[in-house]
Amino acid sequence: MTTAAATNRLDSNDDYLVFIAGLRKLWPVDLTQYRRGQMERRIRSFAGRRGITNLPDYLAVLSADKDELHRFLDHVTINVSQLWRHPEQWQVLHKQVIPELAADKRIRAWSAGCSYGAEAFTLSAVARDAAPDARLSITGTDVDRRIIDRAREGRFTDADAREAPQESMKKWFSHDGEFWTAKPELRFGMTFELGDLLHMSVPPGSYDLIMCRNVVIYFNEDVRDELHGRFAAALRPGGYLVIGATERVATPGPIGLTPTHPFIYRKA
Ligand SMILES: C[S@@+](CC[C@H](N)C(=O)[O-])C[C@H]1O[C@@H](n2cnc3c(N)ncnc32)[C@H](O)[C@@H]1O
Repeated sequence: MTTAAATNRLDSNDDYLVFIAGLRKLWPVDLTQYRRGQMERRIRSFAGRRGITNLPDYLAVLSADKDELHRFLDHVTINVSQLWRHPEQWQVLHKQVIPELAADKRIRAWSAGCSYGAEAFTLSAVARDAAPDARLSITGTDVDRRIIDRAREGRFTDADAREAPQESMKKWFSHDGEFWTAKPELRFGMTFELGDLLHMSVPPGSYDLIMCRNVVIYFNEDVRDELHGRFAAALRPGGYLVIGATERVATPGPIGLTPTHPFIYRKA
């Protein structure tokens, strides 16, 4: 637990902290580790749209109404994603990172905070195109159980595919007029699991590639930095960490990472 979180916990007059402590009994994620300003605005405005301005009252609603709790969690977890999100990163992965990793004939990848799977399925397509002979395994994890169920479906809309190369979509997905569904050869070696990044422990050197994009933006900076350290430890030497295009690793050197391309780091 961070010092700020520990201090915050003691203040029972703070209705936001009382709310997130109560919420933890309904959903086991520790929101004290997330940036307060942003999270509190989201929570208050969501409750406000239901005509509730008082957080303890809203907690009582969430405790009594499962559907409302699900709607609320959908809002809080911010599952926005899309296929080939940040296309320039996928080009670097295709041309440089994947071919280099494929020298080992296997690529073990982790999409951390995978939402409904768009990032993991994009990685599967890009890696299979760039290194068709490598044995590929991709694990997608997210804290939101329902979004993991959705990721397992491997089904995407035209909006999800708006920046995706059409030839890749046709090669790796079947289209029924409404949805793009991942073909079996794209799904091979892919698994999706529930997992809270704040509490996961991963054996050192488990992965060749970790993608964690647009997740740590919601965390407090010390939590983000600690997580980047854990990602670095989970990579094998020569492995890569890919972060979101608005993010940074605060101190890459001490955790053994070297920037090689924008928002991409190599483990020494
Ligand atoms: C904006 S989406 C990013 C999806 C994908 N990485 C991308 O860039 O398109 C953020 C995801 O992080 C997940 N998330 C938030 N807190 C998390 C935590 N503590 N552990 C695991 N996933 C978390 C959310 O549930 C959400 O699906």
